[in-house]
Amino acid sequence: MEDMMQNIVSLAKRRGFIFPGSEIYGGLANSWDYGPLGVELKNNIRQEWWRWFVTRRTDMVGIDAALVMNPKVWEASGHLKEFSDPLVECKKCHERFRADQVDLKSACPSCNEKGTFTNPSNFNLMLKTFLGPAEDSAHVAYFRPELAQSMFVDFKNVIETTRKRLPFGIASQGKAFRNEITPGNFIFRTREFDLMEFEYFVREQEWEKWFEYWLHDMKKWLLHLGVREDHFHEAEIPDGERAHYSKRTIDIEYDYPFGRKELYGLAYRTDFDLKNHMEKSGEDLRYVDPETQEKMLPHVIEPTFGLDRTVLVAMLEAYSEELAPTAEEGETDTRVVMKFPYWMAPVKVAILPLAKKEDLQKIGKQLHEELSQYVACDYDETQSIGKRYRRQDEIGTPFCVTIDFDTLQDKAVTVRDRDTMKQERISMQELSQYLKEKLNA
Ligand code: GAP
Repeated sequence: MEDMMQNIVSLAKRRGFIFPGSEIYGGLANSWDYGPLGVELKNNIRQEWWRWFVTRRTDMVGIDAALVMNPKVWEASGHLKEFSDPLVECKKCHERFRADQVDLKSACPSCNEKGTFTNPSNFNLMLKTFLGPAEDSAHVAYFRPELAQSMFVDFKNVIETTRKRLPFGIASQGKAFRNEITPGNFIFRTREFDLMEFEYFVREQEWEKWFEYWLHDMKKWLLHLGVREDHFHEAEIPDGERAHYSKRTIDIEYDYPFGRKELYGLAYRTDFDLKNHMEKSGEDLRYVDPETQEKMLPHVIEPTFGLDRTVLVAMLEAYSEELAPTAEEGETDTRVVMKFPYWMAPVKVAILPLAKKEDLQKIGKQLHEELSQYVACDYDETQSIGKRYRRQDEIGTPFCVTIDFDTLQDKAVTVRDRDTMKQERISMQELSQYLKEKLNA
C-alpha cells in the first residue's frame, strides 16, 4: 500500500501535477507546488465544489475574505487559547512530536532512545506574523487557520445585502495556515493548505435535521468525485476530542495508503461563534425573523473540505495499472491510467497529428482552436503515437483525437477512448458534437 503513495508522488512530479516547493534551494520541508496539470485538476475540483454547494442552490451565497484578520477575531473565536495540539519533545535528540501520533511508551522514532519524552504540553497552531514596520506585540497578527471566522464576522453584511432567510449558508474557499508540529504524507498535512467550507445557519430546534442532511450531501459529493463507497467511513468524534466550538462532530475518514485518517469534517458549532463575536465586538449579530420580528442567534452546521486532501484522494482513486497491448504485434506492457471522472480531468481532449507533416499539423491546429473554445485541449506532435497515448493515459485525458493520412481524403479522425482504448472513426464535421455528448454523458 505504501507503494501506492510512491506511485502517486512520482507520477505527480513526472507529469507536472505537484512538485516539491522551493526545490532548487533544496526544498522547504513539506511544502508543495501545483504544476501545470495539478493546477487544472485542483481548479476543476474547486469550481465543481462551488457549483455543487453554492451556485446551483438558492440557499447559499459565497464570500472571499482576507487571509489576515483583526487579532480580536481569534480571541473571540477561542483559537488563541484553544487551537492547539499536544506536543512532546525527546529529551535526547530534541525532536518534537504530536503526543497523539507517537507511542509515548516506545522509543523515540527519531533517535530510538526509550523513555525520553517530556510530558505533553499544548502547542498553539496559529501562524503568527507582524503587520507594518514594527515587530512588537501591538503589531502581531495571525494567518487564518480556518475560513469559518470570516463567514461569522461578515454575517451581518451578508444578511443585510442579500436578505437571505433561514436556513441559508455562507461559503468560502481559500488558503488556511497552521503551524503543524508534524506535517507529512505528501499533501495530506502541510502548514499552508486550501480549504473549502460553509457555515449553514439554522434555527436551533432544526440542527439535527440539517446535520443529517449535510452528512448525506457530503457523501454524495464524494461519490461524484469518483471515490468508492467502501473507501470512506464516518467517525463520530467523542466528547473531549472535539474542537472547542463543536457540540457534535462527524469526521469522514478515508483509507489512505498510510492508514484511515480524516478527509472531511462536519460540525455542529451551535451559536458559539456568533455569540462570542457579538459579545466581543459589541455589534448586534442577531437575525430578525421577517414574519414574527423575533430576534435570535442562528445555530450553525459546518461541513468542511480540505481541497489538497481532495486532490490526493482523487489521484489515489483514479490511479490504475493494467496490462495493455503495445505497438509491437502480440506484445503487452503495463499502462498507467488516471481514470478521473471526465469533469475533473485536467485535459479533456488531446489532438495528435500522426506525423509532423504540414497538412496534418494544419488540421490539428484548426481542431485545437475549435475544440478549445469549450474544453481543455492538449496538442502534441512529438514522439510515436503509442508513447503519446500512454502519456495522455497517465494524465487522465478521456479522449485522444488522431489525424492521419486518411484524414486528408475522408475528412475523418480517429477518436480513442482512455478507458476502453477502443478507437472510432468520426467525421470532422461531427467531432465537436460527438465529444460534447461523450464528455457530458
Ligand atoms: N472550520 C473547521 C475546520 O477548520 P478542521 O477539521 O480543523 O476543521 C478542516 O479542518 C479540513 O481541513 C480537514 O477536514 C482537512 O481536510 C483539512 N486540513 C486540516 N489540517 C490540514 C493540514 N495541515 N493540511 C492539509 N489539510 C488540512
